[in-house]
Amino acid sequence: MLQRLQEHWRDGSNTFSKPGEALLGVFVGASLVGAGGLNIDPYLAGGGSGRVRHVYVGPRFRRHGVGRLLVEAIIARARPEFAVLNLRAPDTAHAFYEALGFKPVEGEKFASHRLIFAQSSQGS
Ligand SMILES: CC(C)(COP(=O)(O)OP(=O)(O)OC[C@H]1O[C@@H](n2cnc3c(N)ncnc32)[C@H](O)[C@@H]1OP(=O)(O)O)[C@@H](O)C(=O)NCCC(=O)NCCS
Repeated sequence: MLQRLQEHWRDGSNTFSKPGEALLGVFVGASLVGAGGLNIDPYLAGGGSGRVRHVYVGPRFRRHGVGRLLVEAIIARARPEFAVLNLRAPDTAHAFYEALGFKPVEGEKFASHRLIFAQSSQGS
């Protein structure tokens, strides 16, 4: 996961630099202990969907809220930019995303979970 993040950063194919995108890190002192990104979903046309990418927490730092911190920051950035936030997670991460409010998606190749943002009320 981190290798793909690095490769895509280096070859320029994903530098999280399109409008609304972000690459976030969690540090303990000077050490990076977790990372994760927000992309415009490349699997869906139209640009209205965000995608959680490459969320990874170092094994020694798991179950201390680092992943929650990362994904809540990704959600906060995604909410004003996108109608939905998609992701495809391994089975081992399903409970994590469901604890953060993502709903399981059935029968889609490119998404295991989705968070649908409530529509903002216009003119009130
Ligand atoms: C999935 C991952 C990012 C979770 O990060 P984390 O820092 O350990 O998660 P948190 O401590 O913030 O957990 C938040 C909540 O998610 C749930 N959760 C997290 N890991 C869980 C697990 N292995 N089993 C069940 N629930 C889990 C719990 O409800 C947890 O709250 P609690 O600790 O108070 O019970 C981390 O395990 C990881 O990097 N795994 C390898 C890479 C990976 O699978 N990334 C996802 C790719 S899309």
